[in-house]
Amino acid sequence: MPYLSKLKEGSIFYDIDSNRNRKVSIFDTTLRDGEQTPGVSLTIQQKLEIAQQIDKLGVDSIESGFPISSKGDMEAVKTIASSGLNTNVCGLARVLKKDIDACIDANVDMIHTFVSTSDVQRIHTIKKSREEVLDMACEAVSYIKDHGIKCMFSAMDATRTDTDYLIEIYQAVEDNKCDIINVPDTVGVMSPSRMYNLIKLVDSKINIPIDVHCHNDFGLAVANSLMAFEAGASQIQVTINGLGERAGNADLGEAVMSLQSIYGAITNINTEYIVETSRLVERFTGVKMPPTMPIVGENAFAHESGIHTHGVLEQSDTFEPGIMTPEMVGHTRRIVLGKHAGKHAIKKSLETAGLNPTDDQLNEIVSRVKAIADKGKRITDADLNAVTLTVMGKPAGEELIKLKELSVMTGNIITPTAVVKASVDREELIMSNTGVGPVDAALKAVEEMIGEHTKVKIHDFRIEAISGGSDALAEVIIGVEDENGKIVTARSASADIVMASVDALITAINTLLNK
Ligand code: KIV
Ligand code: ZN
Repeated sequence: MPYLSKLKEGSIFYDIDSNRNRKVSIFDTTLRDGEQTPGVSLTIQQKLEIAQQIDKLGVDSIESGFPISSKGDMEAVKTIASSGLNTNVCGLARVLKKDIDACIDANVDMIHTFVSTSDVQRIHTIKKSREEVLDMACEAVSYIKDHGIKCMFSAMDATRTDTDYLIEIYQAVEDNKCDIINVPDTVGVMSPSRMYNLIKLVDSKINIPIDVHCHNDFGLAVANSLMAFEAGASQIQVTINGLGERAGNADLGEAVMSLQSIYGAITNINTEYIVETSRLVERFTGVKMPPTMPIVGENAFAHESGIHTHGVLEQSDTFEPGIMTPEMVGHTRRIVLGKHAGKHAIKKSLETAGLNPTDDQLNEIVSRVKAIADKGKRITDADLNAVTLTVMGKPAGEELIKLKELSVMTGNIITPTAVVKASVDREELIMSNTGVGPVDAALKAVEEMIGEHTKVKIHDFRIEAISGGSDALAEVIIGVEDENGKIVTARSASADIVMASVDALITAINTLLNK
């Protein structure tokens, strides 16, 4: 891992960390706890695709579902278990024979069996005595091991369970040949130091590996998982995008990158697929990550302020962790022009576009850009282009595409259809396409029309109403990306949302081609 060499001896990172080179396994529960995210439901095909992607990511185990819970889950677990993944495929089961049999029928490599051990859950949900729970746990573990299957046991709500009883039950399942125990912080109530102390204690009392499963009710799931690792846990449960019950579980990207980059621990994760995996799960689950989400968020490696962009353009680790770069996680660095934009960032952006203003011109461009941003507007590349050409007294570049006519048909009895007539490189073309709505149909028609000249894909699309009422002016900001990954943004405003969208797309493409 080349980036570990960045942790220089003598730096604070080096000194605080006695966990360097410790191996930690990653157990992914996106398809089980992650699917328990309120509002999320995945098809079998989507689950298989996610499982394949998580396998490519290199996780050690994947909890593919809870086979007894529904026919669909059973089918999904079976499909994943027989799909030839490299990872260990695990199924979830209560400490009940019928649940375990369902996992065995699904042909999983490993069974994760669990039972509530805290008084609050034991008394109010399963209504069993402590002795009964202990017996059920031991019977379940023995039953799994008698079938020659790897077994993980979870004392559900472990962190609110009487500690002596918790140790007693973990020791009992160890005596019954359990392979690994899990310590779930089921309602996310641990603090990092409490988690550390609990895992240290459990580790001193049992001899099999310890896994932790932390929920994020107070935003501490990753911190608690890391402290569990420091205290001796050798496996951490995570989900993609931190999905899971309520506020979710520890996020894979955050946990893995902290383990590798901050501690220097070793995982099997191919970190360059973290962003790709996050986007796939976002798409299938409909749960969008906020721009400020660490590692995978749109802004995770974006820089706006003059001081930061100047630093990053000189040397990226001036205002980035350095021990984690965008390339390591499959992300890209972005310099965003906004109200804090500095001269360096604007100059660099113009140079990339082949524009070299004089110092005076650059000062004027910077002040005009800031004036636009002060009105609360995002600066698009097309805005910067237009401002620069005006200040430099240059003619606007030739437009490859000029829109001539646009018509759309939509309604509840026809598929939304758009017809676009435009001159493309001086040749008049007509193209029609259909879509999920009139905007989608029109944008697809434009994309197809220019397909011969340049392949672009829409990277970003936002609509905002900038006045009220049904005649509101809609502002569309669009970003397009060419085959080399170059992204250009443009805006347009119109009372007609389809016109604003098409105009923004054409402006973005013309700007991209002029660049
Ligand atoms: O949060 C939890 O306790 C669980 C168990 C099934 C491990 O998800
Ligand atoms: Zn959970």
